Amino acid sequence: MQEKPIGIFDSGVGGLTVLKEISRLLPEEDIIYLGDTARVPYGIRSAETVIKYSIECATFLYKKGIKILVVACNTSSALSLETLKEKLTIPVIGVIEPGVKAALKTTRNGIVGIIGTEATVKSSAYSKKIREKDPSIQVIAKACPLFVPLVEEGILEGEIADLVIDRYLKELKTSGIDTLILGCTHYPLLKKSIGKYMDGIKLVDSAEEAALGVREMLSEHNFLRNRRTEGSKTFYVTDDPGRFRKIGEIFLNYEIENIYKVSLEEAK
Ligand code: DGL
Repeated sequence: MQEKPIGIFDSGVGGLTVLKEISRLLPEEDIIYLGDTARVPYGIRSAETVIKYSIECATFLYKKGIKILVVACNTSSALSLETLKEKLTIPVIGVIEPGVKAALKTTRNGIVGIIGTEATVKSSAYSKKIREKDPSIQVIAKACPLFVPLVEEGILEGEIADLVIDRYLKELKTSGIDTLILGCTHYPLLKKSIGKYMDGIKLVDSAEEAALGVREMLSEHNFLRNRRTEGSKTFYVTDDPGRFRKIGEIFLNYEIENIYKVSLEEAK
């Protein structure tokens, strides 16, 4: 098991924030990444559709012989994690629980904000998980649908970013929260601008927290790879690799090689 790769999937390019943190923390691990670029975004779709797509992504990676499945997409984590855990015989980790754990450690006044896609917010997955762990915490959630296209356009700072941030976060800023969970793959790229706007409010990056969760889970199962050489990275996408490569480089800051277009139909 130790020699097998880590499998990560996302609705598209956004999960590269999670890949980046995992490979920073566990550079020796081989990673297979699947971005369902033909069907992105998941954040505006129904629970039924997101679950169906997530099962297809997970099945594709499972068949590649991965040792752990990382559901990098917050929307998929919110809606399909339990189903995937039931279906697969390998460890499965999403981004919600690690983000919640970090937020609970961070908050001092017990008022936590969450931002994410419409589907993530509608699912209440973050709020439910928080209340399960500590019912005294007050949760305020807000969907920020324009943040995803903003990041994909490479608009991470400046006037336009500030205007959109103001539009979505104005009420949260004065709501009394002292901690804000960035509950979407794309939002860590806006961390600087959001941090400046939400002055004094601590931001929880679910990508960073998920990477720590992956290390913990691999270690518990004794699946961590024992070698010093750098692991390989292979990328699969369901649409033409061109746009993934272009936007992916904004996320990773390096040139992406080894991208292959696949059909998830074949994985069934
Ligand atoms: N990956 C999604 C998430 O983290 C954002 C993009 C989408 O809507 O598919 O929720």
